[in-house]
Amino acid sequence: MDNINRIAVLTSGGDAPGMNSAIRAVVRTADKNNIEVLGVRRGYNGLINGDVIPMESKSVRGITSMGGTILYTARCEEFRTVKGVEKAVERCKYLGIDAVAVIGGDGSFKGALELQKLGVSTIGIPATIDNDIGSTYYTIGFDTACNTAIDAIDKLIDTMQSHERISVVEVMGRHAGFLAIEVAIASGAVAVMLPERNIDLDKEVIEKIRQGRILGRDHFIIIVAEGVGNTYGIAEKIQKETGIETRVATIGYIQRGGSPSVRDRVMASRMGHYAVEALINGKEGIVVAYRSSMLEDIPMEESLNMKKDLSDSLLKVAYDISG
Ligand code: F6P
Repeated sequence: MDNINRIAVLTSGGDAPGMNSAIRAVVRTADKNNIEVLGVRRGYNGLINGDVIPMESKSVRGITSMGGTILYTARCEEFRTVKGVEKAVERCKYLGIDAVAVIGGDGSFKGALELQKLGVSTIGIPATIDNDIGSTYYTIGFDTACNTAIDAIDKLIDTMQSHERISVVEVMGRHAGFLAIEVAIASGAVAVMLPERNIDLDKEVIEKIRQGRILGRDHFIIIVAEGVGNTYGIAEKIQKETGIETRVATIGYIQRGGSPSVRDRVMASRMGHYAVEALINGKEGIVVAYRSSMLEDIPMEESLNMKKDLSDSLLKVAYDISG
């Protein structure tokens, strides 16, 4: 790719808390490097229709604490067609866009790949509350969504405990159970049902509740990912088999909103900054991925002798996007 003079940034698919921090980091890093930025509104629709606004450092002032996305987002049907992608490519040429930074999930990256194939440089910044992008351990929005769900479940537990009830809590995730599993662990749920695994309701849920009751447990939380389906049917069966009053609570879109957590703001800032630097360094058709965060064991003595340095790259991000 030749020199980058103008990039476009868009948010696409389901919104995720932290998208605004990513937009801010892209704009500020570009600004520091004398690259112009066009904010594309309403995802790929904006790219097709030329719905763009020039953005500069001050356009992104004060947005890190805001949920949602100031650029709006959409799932664009037209962009799924060859004609739609071609229209977007033409628009990019007309607007002098050298590269497009796409903030979104796998669906949005599929679109980015089509653009890339037709000669428009793209870079993906992973953002979805589902945390279901294979290449990266983390996606922007996941931490906030988990915390929002936990906040709601902690409140639910108060009332379930008082009434000695069972709560079947449906969390988001049509195809992925990453959110459900972390929420289950953090809330102390007795069972979790995920779209990726078949769970035997009788053996792995109802029997556990019976055993828990015998041991004196007074309330139970069951987490069900949206993609499992039939949450009300599950609750009905649990109530029938256990004889314990069972209520359904669906957390729904509340999980996608709210002020992003520190983790999401920092990850989004790092990823947005990385994306622009990668484009400057001639990379394209790539996804910014956060990797290698497996648990490992380290001998005690070695641990005591290990130094932890403050990361220079983190300092650079803070400096570059400070505005
Ligand atoms: O991908 C994020 C997500 O919130 C999923 O968890 C959920 O299944 C889906 O989006 C809902 O999509 P929409 O907002 O288009 O109904």
